[in-house]
Amino acid sequence: MAIEVRPVSSALGAEVIGADLTRPDDDEQFQTIHQALLDHNVVVIRDQDISPADHATFSARFGELELHVLNQFLLPEQPEVLVLSNKRVNGVPVGLQDAGREWHSDLSYMRLPSLGSLLYALEIPPTGGDTLYANLYSAYDTLSPETKERIDGLCLRHSYADFINRRFQESAMERPTLTAEQAAKVPTAIHPLVRTHPDTGRKALYVSPSLVAGIEGVEDAEGEALLQELNDHATQPQFVYRHVWRLHDIVFWDNRCTLHQATAFDPKYTRHMHRTTIRGDLPV
Ligand code: OGA
Ligand code: MN
Repeated sequence: MAIEVRPVSSALGAEVIGADLTRPDDDEQFQTIHQALLDHNVVVIRDQDISPADHATFSARFGELELHVLNQFLLPEQPEVLVLSNKRVNGVPVGLQDAGREWHSDLSYMRLPSLGSLLYALEIPPTGGDTLYANLYSAYDTLSPETKERIDGLCLRHSYADFINRRFQESAMERPTLTAEQAAKVPTAIHPLVRTHPDTGRKALYVSPSLVAGIEGVEDAEGEALLQELNDHATQPQFVYRHVWRLHDIVFWDNRCTLHQATAFDPKYTRHMHRTTIRGDLPV
């Protein structure tokens, strides 16, 4: 069956129809999905019935897979798969409860941030728990010439430990703190604010709002004001696609040119997902 690629919004995103990820060796399918990712930045593939091994094998065609620093939430039999879930077994969370209620790009705090992530919906609430995606190419392209000049050459400090401390310790949200060993694995990373995508050659505004601690060489108050302005610019509604999940959807997003954010849902329902994360290049 021929695979079809159909845009899902004017901002970004396309549905790939007719794909079956239990066939990771299908080269034509791989090429189509790869090209759809480069062209549309977010790829939606519905009605997939895949095992954790299929998920990992297909994802690994795009690059090396990451084992997330929160190793307590990796599937023991397939540690490339991170569990996102609000389920508990004997009171113990089986997965990361909140994978990002604020805008971010996955693993932007790593020296080699993520190329992309593939999230697979295994249980979803009847409403809510959507995921929002924002287009960072559009964000860059629509900056004023003055702002482009002002930010040229600037670098951002990305920090996971800072994020956990700053945003979650005093809040009601449950998020595990890092052990000393985990914290040692995620030192601060410094990346260019304007990044050129290695495959498309296009420039993206590489902000990652919840994971950025500041701008290198810019004093805190001024840096915060500039970051706020850029973050607000990047996440305007015209640059955003809202994915309303259906059971067994896979969404594959390019972390090099998009942001995403989870939205709230009624915690009396279960939302249970599997994620793989592909390692990317050094941002330049
Ligand atoms: C993620 C993430 C958002 C969601 O998996 O990286 O941010 O909607 N998830 O669960
Ligand atoms: Mn994320």
